[in-house]
Amino acid sequence: MTKKVRTFFSTSNQLAFRHKLGHKIKAIKERLAVIRDDRQFHLEERHEESRVVARREDSHSYVPEEEVIGRDEDKMAIMKFLMDEKIEENVAVISIVGTGGLGKTTLAQLVYNDETVQKNFDLRMWVCVSNDFTVRLLVEKILKFATDKDLKNMEMDQLQKDLRKEINVKRYLLVLDDVWNENDGLWLSLKILLSNCAKGSRIVVTTRSTRVGEIMSTVEPYILEGLDKDKSWSLFEKVAFKHGHEASNSNIAEIGKQIVKKCGGIPLVIRTIGRMLYFKNSETEWLSFLEEFSRVPQNDILPTLKLSYDNLPSHLKQCFASCQLFPKDYEINVEMLINVWMALGFVKQSDSTKSLVDTGTS
Ligand SMILES: Nc1ncnc2c1ncn2[C@@H]1O[C@H](COP(=O)(O)OP(=O)(O)O)[C@@H](O)[C@H]1O
Ligand SMILES: [Mg+2]
Repeated sequence: MTKKVRTFFSTSNQLAFRHKLGHKIKAIKERLAVIRDDRQFHLEERHEESRVVARREDSHSYVPEEEVIGRDEDKMAIMKFLMDEKIEENVAVISIVGTGGLGKTTLAQLVYNDETVQKNFDLRMWVCVSNDFTVRLLVEKILKFATDKDLKNMEMDQLQKDLRKEINVKRYLLVLDDVWNENDGLWLSLKILLSNCAKGSRIVVTTRSTRVGEIMSTVEPYILEGLDKDKSWSLFEKVAFKHGHEASNSNIAEIGKQIVKKCGGIPLVIRTIGRMLYFKNSETEWLSFLEEFSRVPQNDILPTLKLSYDNLPSHLKQCFASCQLFPKDYEINVEMLINVWMALGFVKQSDSTKSLVDTGTS
């Protein structure tokens, strides 16, 4: 394969190369576009700043259950609250609290999609809150989810009437995902609008802020813990090794276990590191990664992951971004990936004695 690519790039074969590769690039670009739309995380380039930024998309309610590792007990605990018939209030609220990437949204998705939960509620609604916590915006989002109506230009008064009518006599489940706003006044106004419903209604809030958790919950906030050692390893194995080659080299497995220990049980960190190591095949590479990683203090891991990405030269960011285009468990052939990078013009020749393929590999 390497030989083939070198021949392609030889000066004598530029024309044939352009012609053949033209088709290939088109096919690859189409494929990437399809894959890109299938990703939960998008890395997109902002042209005005000519830099790539990591952005987390708005959440949605779906998660394939088999992708989730070790959250059975947490799921049961939240479900127990959702089904608890002893709760007197019409609508009771629980918040799932924990740092970013811990799996709060994932846990809420698991619960939301559970069959028993589905049967228990007349209406289920999923709203990604993030930064836009104004009562109007939230009412709009909730109503849009429940009715799918066009709400543009509607007066607030009409919106609140419609919302109350929609949930009136219904037992609903509402997930407010990723709440940041600590203004309890806003929350109270929203809660008034959401209280006109059947007994047994529930709101699940996910948040990084303990303060939000305290303001919004009517029961003790649910503090989500990281994955334990074994579960962290299972997730890492799934992401870092090619299927069927799970840690076949016992030294690599040992290094991997030390790396995972540093991930603090945070699935987002385990997944990101696992995906980075997927491309490293030799023990030396794993060892040097472990050394570098060990220097990062525990609390700095998430910012560092982002930072190391931010600090890459622009063309390498694009290489990294194109890796993110592949689905989570897609087996990426490194040579194929380098071809993609070359084809898209990402691989720059910094050293004229090196071939593009060698530059891409390094
Ligand atoms: N228990 C788990 N098993 C496998 N992957 C998980 C698990 N929990 C979270 N993830 C993955 O980790 C990433 C972050 O999870 P997410 O639920 O969005 O975290 P949070 O909402 O706490 O920021 C997602 O890619 C998600 O699919
Ligand atoms: Mg989340």
